[in-house]
Amino acid sequence: MNILVTGGAGYIGSHTCVELLNAGHRVVVFDNFCNSFPEAVRRVETITGKSLALVEGDIRDRAAIEQALRQYQCEAVIHFAGLKAVGESVAKPLEYYDNNVVGTIRLLEAMQATGVKTIVFSSSATVYGMPQFLPYREDHPLSATNPYGRGKIMVEEILRDFHVAQPDSRIALLRYFNPVGAHESGLIGEDPQGVPNNLMPFVTQVAIGKRDRLNIWGGDYETPDGTGVRDYIHVTDLAIGHVKALEYLQKPQCFAVNLGSGQGHSVFDVVKAFEQTSGKNIPYKIEPRRPGDLPAYYADVTLAKSVLDWEATRSLKTMCADSWRWQMNNPNGFRA
Ligand code: NAD
Ligand code: UFG
Repeated sequence: MNILVTGGAGYIGSHTCVELLNAGHRVVVFDNFCNSFPEAVRRVETITGKSLALVEGDIRDRAAIEQALRQYQCEAVIHFAGLKAVGESVAKPLEYYDNNVVGTIRLLEAMQATGVKTIVFSSSATVYGMPQFLPYREDHPLSATNPYGRGKIMVEEILRDFHVAQPDSRIALLRYFNPVGAHESGLIGEDPQGVPNNLMPFVTQVAIGKRDRLNIWGGDYETPDGTGVRDYIHVTDLAIGHVKALEYLQKPQCFAVNLGSGQGHSVFDVVKAFEQTSGKNIPYKIEPRRPGDLPAYYADVTLAKSVLDWEATRSLKTMCADSWRWQMNNPNGFRA
C-alpha cells in the first residue's frame, strides 16, 4: 500500500516508517521538521535498505497535502504530525489548536478531495483524564485538563463525525500510553529539543553526563513506592501496532484502541531497570509533584489483543537498553 505518513520524521513516525517498509508498504513522509530532522528519514532508509519519498510541508497547507496524496497515489494516511508538549500547550493554546486540530481538518479535506478513505490517528491516554477505574478501558469517560489533551479529544470527535458523514471511511484512533525506547540499531530514537520533559530522555541525559541528576516529581503518591506509575511501551512495539491497525482497516469503521503494555511501572522501577541495563548510576532528588500529573495509570490491552492481534512484547529492560544505546551512539541526537 502507498501510505502518507504525516510527522514521519518524528520519534514515533520514524520508527513506524521502518515497520511499514519492512512490511512491504511504500512510504511518503510529509513533515515540516518543526520538531525533527531529515536525517531521521535517511536513517530509516539505512535501517531498512529501502527508500522512501520525503515531502517537506505543513499539514495546514491543504493544497500541499493534496498534491502529495495525488502524486504518490496514496491509499492511506498515518497521522502523527502535531505539537506534543503539555506545558507549552497551556502557554500557547491557539498555536496548539491551530496545528493539531485545524491541521487535522485540512488533512481530512485533502483526503476527501483525493478520495483517500483510511486514516490512523495518534491519540493519547491523556484523553482519559482522572482515572475513574483502572486499567483504563476504551469506554472510560474522556476528559482533559490542558489544550494538548483537549485537542486530542476534539480530533477524536471530529474523526467520529467524519465517519458518520462518510460511512465508507476507515479510521483508527490509537491511544498511546508512554512510548520510550529506540530502534535496536541505535540509529533512530527520541531527540528532544532543550531540557527533556519526559522521564526516559531525562534519565539517559543524566547517564551520559549532560544533566547532574534526575528530579523525581513527587515521592508521596499513593503508589507502591510513592512515585508516579505509567504504562511504558517500546516504540517499536507501538510502531508495529500501526501496521496491525492498517491491516485491520480493510473494512469501513471508526474505532479507538489502547496501545500500551498493560503494566504499570513507577519512576523508581524505571531508574532501577536503567541502572541495571546500562551499568550507570542515576543520582536523583525527590522534588514536589509536577502540576497536572496523575498518580498512576495503565492500559487495559484486551481490545488490542482481540481486534488487532497485537500486544507489546518488549520488556522495560529492553526499553532502557535501547534508549541507552541510542543516547550513547548519538549524544547530540540527529545534530552532527
Ligand atoms: P514528534 O514531535 O517527535 O513528531 C511529530 C512530527 O510532526 C515532527 O517530525 C514534527 O516536525 C511534525 N510536525 C508537527 N507539526 C507539523 C505540521 N503542522 N506539519 C507537518 N509536520 C508537523 O512527536 P512524537 O512523539 O513522534 O508524537 C507523534 C504523535 O503522537 C503526536 O501527535 C503526539 O501528540 C502523539 N503522542 C505522542 C506521545 C509521546 O509520549 N511521544 C504520547 C501520546 C501521543
Ligand atoms: N517524571 C519525573 N521526572 C522527570 C520527568 C518525568 O519524575 O524529569 C515522572 C512524571 O512525574 C511521571 C513519569 O515520570 O510520573 C512519566 O512522566 P513523562 O513526562 O515521561 O510522561 P507523562 O505520563 O507525564 O506524559 C506522557 C506524554 C504526554 C501525554 C501524557 C498523557 O509525554 O504527551 O503522557 O498520557 F499527554
